Amino acid sequence: MKDRVTLTTLRKKKERGEKIVMLTCYDFPTARLLDQAGVDLLLVGDSLGDNVLGYSTTLPVTMDEIIHHTKAVRRGVERAMIVADMPFLSYQVSPERALLNAGRLMKETGVEAVKLEGGAAVAPTVAKIVGAGIPVMGHVGFTPQSVHQLGGYRLQGQTAEAAARLRTDLEALADAGCFAVVLELIPPELAADLSRESPVPTIGIGAGPGCDGQVQVLHDLIGLYPDRVFRHAKRYTEAGRAIQEAAKLYAEEVRAGTFMAD
Ligand code: KIV
Repeated sequence: MKDRVTLTTLRKKKERGEKIVMLTCYDFPTARLLDQAGVDLLLVGDSLGDNVLGYSTTLPVTMDEIIHHTKAVRRGVERAMIVADMPFLSYQVSPERALLNAGRLMKETGVEAVKLEGGAAVAPTVAKIVGAGIPVMGHVGFTPQSVHQLGGYRLQGQTAEAAARLRTDLEALADAGCFAVVLELIPPELAADLSRESPVPTIGIGAGPGCDGQVQVLHDLIGLYPDRVFRHAKRYTEAGRAIQEAAKLYAEEVRAGTFMAD
């Protein structure tokens, strides 16, 4: 068995100033590829909704859908640590309900940790889940489950008050026991300051290079949606166009009667 990534690995990486690599992942073959590529953390994000299931936001994603995909990812991974997102309304109703849902995710999928969105307001929920022995990753800044309340996909923490709120949120999450916190769409200087101050690793997305690690949605990184371009994402390849090209060539050969003719 390869050296598995654990909470200790992540803590040591922060202490040594080594960056943490995290990507979203939703299925078995991709999990194998990303694990073998040495990615530290695989997130079965609720971005499953807008990247795989065809929803326009993350809001409709259910516990059953996350569980189904996390089980597939689990089967493909030997080294990376897997984190599963808690879907909208699976943890907001009460800390007790949140613990039951987090426990269900862990029992049914074999995932090592869960992630939920929100700051100081969800700290009691985080404490409840962590108290039962389930590692929790936090998520502040732009939180996609609150997209309507936040007025769309926009940079957070731009005023002094908003920055102070983010600082309080991060402290509350660390105090409640989060082992790491995602910082999404916040100014790079603020993210770098928060990362220096934070006792737990910060994982940025659209938050600049000063975070302790970075997370990206795989589909953005590999261009699976050729027409979706985000400022916070870097594209390393055009997998979407490659798939289309392969399908077109195949179709041409089948229609011409030359497919596997020799
Ligand atoms: O669901 C997701 O992909 C996420 C990342 C953007 C951090 O929460």
